[in-house]
Order: sequence, then C-alpha cells, then structure tokens
Amino acid sequence: MNPIKSFTTFAAVASVAALTLVAPAHAKNFKIAVGDSGGSSQEATGLGFVKALEELSGGKHTATLFLNGQLGSEQDTVNDAAIGTLDMSLLAINNITPFSPTVGVFTLPYVILSLEDAETLTQGPIGQELTENTINDAGVRIIAWTYTGFRVLTNSKKPVKSVADLEGLVIRVPKNEIMIDTYKSWGISPTPMAWSETFAGLQTKVVDGQDNPYTTINAMKFYEVQKYVTNIRYIFSIEPLIISESVFQDLSAEDQNTVLEAGKAATQASAQFLRDKEAEIKQILLDKGMEISDPENNEQEFIDLATAAVWPKFYDSIGGIEKMNEVLAAIGRDPVAE
Ligand code: MLT
Repeated sequence: MNPIKSFTTFAAVASVAALTLVAPAHAKNFKIAVGDSGGSSQEATGLGFVKALEELSGGKHTATLFLNGQLGSEQDTVNDAAIGTLDMSLLAINNITPFSPTVGVFTLPYVILSLEDAETLTQGPIGQELTENTINDAGVRIIAWTYTGFRVLTNSKKPVKSVADLEGLVIRVPKNEIMIDTYKSWGISPTPMAWSETFAGLQTKVVDGQDNPYTTINAMKFYEVQKYVTNIRYIFSIEPLIISESVFQDLSAEDQNTVLEAGKAATQASAQFLRDKEAEIKQILLDKGMEISDPENNEQEFIDLATAAVWPKFYDSIGGIEKMNEVLAAIGRDPVAE
C-alpha cells in the first residue's frame, strides 16, 4: 500500500474517532443572530444564555453569537428562524410585531413605565401567552427576554425639548406601524429603515436621528454620529431571544427543558446587566460629548398625544381593549374606558 495514502487514511479515521470521543452524541452549537454589537444588552442576554446552556447541559451544548447583524436584518432573521435555516435570534420586539401583531402591546407608547413593569409582564401569564402567539403566528418561540431600557431620541441637529422641536427632523424608526404612528401623533412623518442600515443612514445624514436605549446607543457607537439626546422614554425596549420552533421540536424533551432553563437564566442576566450598567453607560455617552436633556413638563405633551392617537388604533391588533386592560391591570394601572 502507498505509505502516504495509508497514513492519510489512518489520520482521518483517528480524527473522526477523536471527535466522537470529544463531542457527545447530538451535541449542538446553536447559531444565534444578534442585531446589536458587543457591549449591548442583547449580548449580555446571549452570553448569559451560552453560559447557562453549557452548565446545564454538562458541556454537551453550546451556542455562538453572531453580533452586529452579521446574519441579516433583525426582521429577516425571524423569517430565517421560521423556516429553520437559523437556530436563534436576539432582536428587538418591535421587529417581531410585523409577524405576530399581539406582541405589539409591548411597543405601545407609555404602557411599560419601569424595568419592574417589564419583568412582571414578560415573566407572567401575559409573556407566556405572547410566547404561544409567536409560535403560532411566526414559527418562533421566545425563550428569554432582554430588558434594554427606555428608548430615547437622538439626533445630530438640535436639542429637542418639546413636540414642536421635532419639526424639520428626519427620524429613522424600525419598520413598525406603532412606532411610525407614534411619531405621526407628534406631527412628523418618520423614515422606516432596517436596523442594520441605521448607523450608515445617520452617518451619511440620510436621516438626522433615531431612538434606542442608552445601552444600545453606546454599543452601536452612535455618539460618533449623533449629538443630542432627549429622554422621551416612550417605549421600554424589550428584546427577546427566539428559537426556531422547528429546531426546538427536533430536540429531545430533556434538551428542550435545558434550553428553556438556560433562557430563564439569560433573562435574569439581562436584568442584572441593566441594573448594573445603565447609569455608567449614560455617563459614557456624556463623556463622549452627547448632550442629554429631559423634555419639558415631564414629557406630558408627548404622552398625551401618543396615547390618545396610538393606543385605540391598535387595540384590535393586540387582542382587543380587554387585552389592553389585562396588561394595564397586571402592572397596577387604571383601565382604559370601553
Ligand atoms: C431597532 O431600532 O430596530 C431595534 O431596537 C434595534 C435593536 O435591536 O437594538
């Protein structure tokens, strides 16, 4: 026998044998698309998930994060997960709403007023119901929640303190009807744009501004292209980790349980990240030269216009006015009148 060929065959057999010894049967390395960069709340959830998954599976399973929209726009990753070509994605809930309208209740302006509200809603029966809805509507299952903080407005042109100050600004919003209508209630027509195109849009001044939480603004280095921040706090940003339902159903019952438990640990890691880091990150934005201000009159003008125009328009899509009142009751708020 040709000695070179025989050595090559031996080496190939030996490496397959070694791999079999190292990698337990059915070991998975889940591929996770992540819309944001390193240092973001999304990454904190992703890292929390990987750590818990490895621990809970005794090292059998792991997952790899593909940061910064490498695997496509956030909305595209929902389609990819739905057809099973992508395992998981970490993305803003407003980018799931077009596929599963009832999750829009978390994007309605001024519904969630604190991190604690967000935790109560996502970790209770409402979160469970919305998880089931995304499985049925979109073929994806929510397994963890990221709490990213309030979305604040940034722009490169001028300080904004009132609704009137928005005039003349071109603001990017996600492709989300609720967010588009919110800006319309404030008198301007925003520009819908995919998240993956937003930094370039701000840099080239196709758009003047956008809104996202402090942690996202920092992770995405928006301070390089934006100067003014206004704490409009109109949406508390929630960013789920979703798994393709077909990928989930292919797992054994034991592995499904491991994935769900790792998701719970990731949710806790996300809340801890926000509690630990938000104030520090706000200071980083100031140090980078951003000017941060509060709207006049405790934001009342923004609140009144948005809630009056936007809430009633979306009652049907979120499951009716009864659903709205169920959500408000869960966080101790008064119901809206029928
Ligand atoms: C968006 O603005 O589209 C999202 O909030 C971005 C993100 O995932 O952080």
